[in-house]
Amino acid sequence: MIIGVIGYGVVGSATAELLRRLGHQVAVRDTDHFRMGEARSEGFAELDHETKPDVLFICVREGHVREVVPRAPECPLTVIRSTVPPGTTESLSEELGRPLLFMPEILREATALWDAMNPNLIVIGCRDKEQGERLAELFTPLMAPIVLVPTSTAAMFKLTLNAYFHTLISFWNEIHLICDLTGVPSHVVGKLCSQDPRVSPYGAAMHGKPAGGTCLPKDLAQLIGFAEGNGYLPNLLTAVKDINLKVVGQRVELATNGHHPQTPLGLRIASVGSNT
Ligand SMILES: NC(=O)c1ccc[n+]([C@@H]2O[C@H](COP(=O)([O-])OP(=O)(O)OC[C@H]3O[C@@H](n4cnc5c(N)ncnc54)[C@H](O)[C@@H]3O)[C@@H](O)[C@H]2O)c1
Repeated sequence: MIIGVIGYGVVGSATAELLRRLGHQVAVRDTDHFRMGEARSEGFAELDHETKPDVLFICVREGHVREVVPRAPECPLTVIRSTVPPGTTESLSEELGRPLLFMPEILREATALWDAMNPNLIVIGCRDKEQGERLAELFTPLMAPIVLVPTSTAAMFKLTLNAYFHTLISFWNEIHLICDLTGVPSHVVGKLCSQDPRVSPYGAAMHGKPAGGTCLPKDLAQLIGFAEGNGYLPNLLTAVKDINLKVVGQRVELATNGHHPQTPLGLRIASVGSNT
């Protein structure tokens, strides 16, 4: 098949490379000359007016989706991969009179291609089941479960997953802040708690490190905005955000005073959560 990818960033480059490895002909487009140069040096063709893709993936940041989709080449299957709020794919599809699917990406920045090639689950948001099934066929070689759901459900799934990860990080950061008051090492508390199989190891390792990266804080803000826009005040999610800001502030203060936040083993570590 001929695949088009618009936006050759973290998600776009992983999507392009994955589909090439699955045997498709992939052409990409990016407005950034540096990124486009990278794509060419990786051997990808340019997605131009001559290209007639069978499937087109939109992989720009969500703020650019509304400007990019109307100008995208005609294509039987146009798929948004950017993290857009529930309702966006449907409303854009109706405005443009063009069927659109939504397929959230769950990769982590540091291991983007590996994650794209080894998904735990593939969620396809579609209005038309037959279109969803055609898109699913592209990914069946990955041997991951593929679920077709309405586009709003797929969008909510993506935001919920990232809000869950962020909540775990903020939970352990709050425990860390409380432990700090009494000198109790919160990482030991976390290790003890994680012996219980009901405790997620993802969260239990985070102490004094804010959720960072490009996605977790922004996706949490998006979910809060979506809930508020629909008349619901998400108190828990707002607290998750506030705790993160507190931890970021604490680290800035430490760094300003010449201290570098360190792990209990004395190793400098980056902020966590630069994933999905
Ligand atoms: N980075 C991640 O780990 C990750 C994981 C899952 C989902 N997402 C979501 O995927 C989306 C893309 O994220 P990303 O990290 O790949 O972003 P990115 O900034 O790495 O890449 C976006 C690319 O789109 C290009 N672009 C912008 N406007 C364009 C246009 N008009 N035409 C062509 N190209 C254009 C930019 O130059 C850039 O190279 C976001 O919505 C993000 O939330 C990201």
